[in-house]
Amino acid sequence: KSDIVVSAPGKVILFGEHAVVHGVSAVATSVDLRCFGVLSPRSDSKVALEVPDLNVEAEWDISALPWNLLPVHIDGSRRVADKELDPPLLAAIESLITSNDVANPAIGSQLAFLYLYMVISAKESNAPSGTFTASSNLPIGAGLGSSAAYSTCIASALLLAHNHIDNPALGESFSSSGPGISPGDTDLIDGWAFLSEKVLHGNPSGIDNAVSVRGGAVSFTRSVGGRKGGLETLNGFSSVRLLLTDTHVPRDTKSLVAGVAAKRLAEPALVDSTFDSIQSISDEARGLLGGQSHVGRDRLVHRLSAMITENHQHLVTLGVSHPSLEMIVSATSAEPFNLSTKLTGAGGGGCAVTLIPDDFPDTELDSLLSTLRNMGFTPHLTSLGVPG
Ligand code: PMV
Repeated sequence: KSDIVVSAPGKVILFGEHAVVHGVSAVATSVDLRCFGVLSPRSDSKVALEVPDLNVEAEWDISALPWNLLPVHIDGSRRVADKELDPPLLAAIESLITSNDVANPAIGSQLAFLYLYMVISAKESNAPSGTFTASSNLPIGAGLGSSAAYSTCIASALLLAHNHIDNPALGESFSSSGPGISPGDTDLIDGWAFLSEKVLHGNPSGIDNAVSVRGGAVSFTRSVGGRKGGLETLNGFSSVRLLLTDTHVPRDTKSLVAGVAAKRLAEPALVDSTFDSIQSISDEARGLLGGQSHVGRDRLVHRLSAMITENHQHLVTLGVSHPSLEMIVSATSAEPFNLSTKLTGAGGGGCAVTLIPDDFPDTELDSLLSTLRNMGFTPHLTSLGVPG
């Protein structure tokens, strides 16, 4: 048996963050900052996890895992747990690694790995031993879906190891949206990645893992007050270049979301008309990125740029920008760059996204990168809509 090599992308919310909480559609796409995973077989009866970015180096004896807590079929065979969290199992794994600090990414990553390992391996009489190593060039905790990319990698590697899915690109790194992957296999990986996200986050919406597994772009609408939501894959999206700039300013998603809800109560007319405008932007983005609008490449990039500027202004109105984000907006929109930038995700810090047109000169790009670095930010040049 040889190594299994997998990778999965992070995501950016391109349009509709915050408004999405209140039932407006959001559009998110994959970015080619990725998590990489290698599952290497080993000949002892140990399972190990190594995540150098989080200082995780953990090893467990397979026979010491709490297998007895997994649900058992009448015929005595273990069954794969329903795609629901199993509280006693989770508690057992937690005590196994002697900490309850799930909010700590180092602990959360171990819990998610062990949980998936146990439930996916439960079908086999002999759970395979192995070492899973994960590394990532996604900034952690910056709203780019680093945990979903990690979850997608574990789910794919374990499902491949157990032959629940095939890698059509034999001997090569596995891509969950590569040629030859069946829709059923994509859904299977997504279901397990979502389960891992639940271990890591408690109550995720599922948009991050949906984008990480499928790649490309999706439109997501939350069900709010009787109105039905849904997830639509935007096929036919061709990649565009994006500059992602990390402000390194920590943000608190929960309080920013609460701030918008409070503003809506205080100024309902203003906030609701802002939400309506954001819905129009998301609708147009869905058409453009889903390939239904049949516009030329130049027009596509031009419209996306205009909508980025407009959506950012709406987020300023909602009160979720930050001086560091406004510095990036000013620097990128100034001469000679004339580029459009918006915050992405929760705002209040985190990351900004700047659309880079195809014909943007390399020399100007270099100068923009140094300008942003000199301001203390970290720009990452990336592509949108990359494979899952
Ligand atoms: O911080 P992120 O990228 O996970 O995004 C938060 C997005 C919000 O719309 C602000 C909140 C949400 O739950 O959708």
